[in-house]
Amino acid sequence: MKHRLIIDCDPGQDDAIMLLMALAWPEKLELLGVCAVAGNVPLALTQRNTRMICELAGRADLPVFAGCEAPLQRELHTAEHVHGSSGLDGLALWEPALPLQEQHAVNFLIETLLDAEPESITLVPTGPLTNIAMALQKEPAITRGIRNIVLMGGAMREAGNITPSAEFNIYVDPHAAQTVLTCGRPLVVAGLDVTHQVPVPRAWLQTLQNRGDAVAEAVAAMLTYYNRFDTEKYGSEGAPLHDPCTIAWLLEPQLFTGRDCHIAVETESALTLGHTAVDFWQVTSQTANAHWLHAVDAGGFFHLLDRSLKRYAI
Ligand code: BDR
Ligand code: CA
Repeated sequence: MKHRLIIDCDPGQDDAIMLLMALAWPEKLELLGVCAVAGNVPLALTQRNTRMICELAGRADLPVFAGCEAPLQRELHTAEHVHGSSGLDGLALWEPALPLQEQHAVNFLIETLLDAEPESITLVPTGPLTNIAMALQKEPAITRGIRNIVLMGGAMREAGNITPSAEFNIYVDPHAAQTVLTCGRPLVVAGLDVTHQVPVPRAWLQTLQNRGDAVAEAVAAMLTYYNRFDTEKYGSEGAPLHDPCTIAWLLEPQLFTGRDCHIAVETESALTLGHTAVDFWQVTSQTANAHWLHAVDAGGFFHLLDRSLKRYAI
């Protein structure tokens, strides 16, 4: 079946690869629009980066919207130490011709979801959840249009990547994450427990470098930069491809193993702010609000990603 999607992202090299993966399958994924949010880098860069990647994918027709410049209640924390000052370091940057829509991303989300057939649209957030939470708070009736939300965020067994107990996207806007987790629509959550199982394999990166088409070249350049921080940090062969796990789940959910769990977010403690408390063993009586992904077939994942990127070479 064809999914109707709205992607909400903060590119970021892994967001960029997520977008390229999604745009490679128009017969399976119908993208209604792409929203940008402040996260890895400030909004002025995430919206520009989003337009650049849509253009690279040959989709200059896509509507791209800029959303919130800062989290709901906190100051913005960014991750230039991972992604570089542009958010897409490694890539030779250009000023995209694809225009930015005038409408605010939050209003686009509200309008589209209110107009949609009931339970028909999948939201794919791969940055802080500010835009989605703001839309839910401004117009709670939008839940009617949401089929499900497939997001990248959180950590359980893997512990945190930005503080000892928090994953970056949730840490940046924990209040937004709490709003999304309690919205009552089906949620699929790809946190670090699963994304750390898909570090970029060195041999695969080399095949990309040798392929010679524009998309493979751009992805190889971005990944070479993106690898440098995480390989040092984790002692792994490559950096984890966090955000593409969302699209991989939509395309081939059988690659993943997950469990329905209750997930809550810490929004107050200075020590554990943004921690996702995943009730994996059902030790509380709280009803599950999410499907928590905890294992992935890494070989199958990279085979799917490779097939996706090869579609641009045809
Ligand atoms: C998440 O944080 C960002 O740096 C990545 O783009 C990903 O969405 C991983 O914690
Ligand atoms: Ca991201």
